[in-house]
Amino acid sequence: MKRINQIEPWIGKEEKEAMAEYLDSGGWLTEHKKTREFEQSIANYVGSRYASVVSNGTISLVIALMALDVGKEDEVIVPDYTMIASANAVVIAGAKPILVDIDPLNLCLDLELAIEAITSKTRAIMFVSINGRCPDMEKVVALANKYNLCLIEDAAQSLGSRYKGKHLGTFGRFGSFSFSVPKIITTGQGGALVTDDEELFSRVSKIKDFGRPKAGLDYHETMGLNAKFTDLQAVIGFEQMKKLDWRVKKKKEIYTLYYDRLQNIERIEFIDTNLEDCVPWFIDILANEAETRNNLAKFLDEKDIGVRPFYPAIHTQPPYSYIKGDFRNSESISQRGLWLPSSSFLTNEDIERVCDCIRSYFRNN
Ligand SMILES: Cc1ncc(COP(=O)(O)O)c(C=O)c1O
Repeated sequence: MKRINQIEPWIGKEEKEAMAEYLDSGGWLTEHKKTREFEQSIANYVGSRYASVVSNGTISLVIALMALDVGKEDEVIVPDYTMIASANAVVIAGAKPILVDIDPLNLCLDLELAIEAITSKTRAIMFVSINGRCPDMEKVVALANKYNLCLIEDAAQSLGSRYKGKHLGTFGRFGSFSFSVPKIITTGQGGALVTDDEELFSRVSKIKDFGRPKAGLDYHETMGLNAKFTDLQAVIGFEQMKKLDWRVKKKKEIYTLYYDRLQNIERIEFIDTNLEDCVPWFIDILANEAETRNNLAKFLDEKDIGVRPFYPAIHTQPPYSYIKGDFRNSESISQRGLWLPSSSFLTNEDIERVCDCIRSYFRNN
């Protein structure tokens, strides 16, 4: 029986044909017209005024912080449960990450605890909408406004997800997306910053291009990086964007099928998910305890079903182990969470096979 991987990209003949056409056209490969088209399609889709694509969704966060002038001496609030890039970006930008525990109901930053963590040095909140979920975003915005903090939304996992119809990533000064291989659409690597602020957009355009105001010019107004995109990636990304609506629908169907088949199992739990707005990019379940999660993961792997344990809590990762505190929710969630096979092309039969295996595990153990 074929192995079902936890996640795989999905590139079709449309991408192949578009790439052949682009290469035949004699394009220069680096970012140019195709990149502008891709950026426009992202801005249109999420409903922002500007989108700027960069090499990945880590450097996009670094650039957002640089554009907002957040760095040395500044503190940035970061959830203790997220992909490590959210915290790393803060360190790379020269600021200090202040880790805060999460709300177990949506796996995002606990807003009450975030308020307690604010000091005179706090300049920004790195708000991460984990797996397309979020709390009341109006509260997040109100919190940032009340304490005069820059709100950066790490929406790497949230393309397609909304809050009350408004796309995640469009509530803060910047929203950041990732197009790495496991994401709902991919360009191999890639990231995007969206904003409604013309001045911030202009800063991003310079920072990602060595700090110069114009390509090809050797005059540099600000400190910069080379984090530019390529038209090669944009050709793929533009075709993937055309498939996004369909994939959003498919991810919700996949989630519903898993939920229907597994919700009655006592030792696993689903996180509350409003499928009107949220697109669960990875199908996530919580086991009753770490041992159950680990044994189930091993069992499924032996049955040729790829699964992935949740990220470890940030403060347990070696670069951040100097940070001490009460992180009971992120610890518990990271030890009990498991991502099930989630590729957009999974068939109903694939999902039935995964669910049958999970049910048989709990029957026999
Ligand atoms: C929440 C979050 N932030 C940032 C990143 C980093 O994005 P990239 O892999 O494109 O650098 C990821 C990637 O998975 C992510 O999930």
